[in-house]
Amino acid sequence: MIRTFSHQEVLDLAKYATIPIINGLTDLLHPCQVLADLMTIQEHKGRLAGLKLAFIGDGNNMAHSLMFGGAKMGLQVVIASPQGYKPDPLVVAMAQADAKANGGSVEVIDDPLEAVQGADVLYTDVWASMGQEEESKARMIAFEGYQINSDVLKRADQSAIVMHCLPAHRGEEITDDVIEGVQSVVFDEAENRLHAQKAVMALVI
Ligand code: NVA
Repeated sequence: MIRTFSHQEVLDLAKYATIPIINGLTDLLHPCQVLADLMTIQEHKGRLAGLKLAFIGDGNNMAHSLMFGGAKMGLQVVIASPQGYKPDPLVVAMAQADAKANGGSVEVIDDPLEAVQGADVLYTDVWASMGQEEESKARMIAFEGYQINSDVLKRADQSAIVMHCLPAHRGEEITDDVIEGVQSVVFDEAENRLHAQKAVMALVI
């Protein structure tokens, strides 16, 4: 398993390795996290297909993998990101093709309030990912309004669950009351990384 920045390093390792290579996180994708996320949604909602998942924030590795994973499982994935921080258009196009084949959908919009309307799952991630620390100040400005707080949560379905891949920056992309609130499943989600990644290893060994 490799956790790195450049996605190319995973591809290079996979090309030359004689053993299976697992992507433990790159700047482009975070598939292991999304396996745990889908497991958590299934546990709490009893299904995946047809659910609306709203991702609020940076069009980053998490947004990309949620689009891919969500599309494969027939979810309606809506990403709300500010201009300049949209997901990679190529990833969006590939996920949209996957979604079409599986009865789901993938959409990228600007407005976080529109995205959460009636959503079953609200998801967010840090505004500045690992390696982007020096951009933090500019990102604080760009992502203003892209926060999951109690007002935003009220616009979702009343039994919506709230997810975050952690670690969270409380008071930035998510408020304390929401991450600690009854609708938050972030600690189940964190636990499920262990189970989902054990399953990946069992599959490839
Ligand atoms: N987008 C975050 C995910 C951390 C699990 C990062 O890459 O730092």
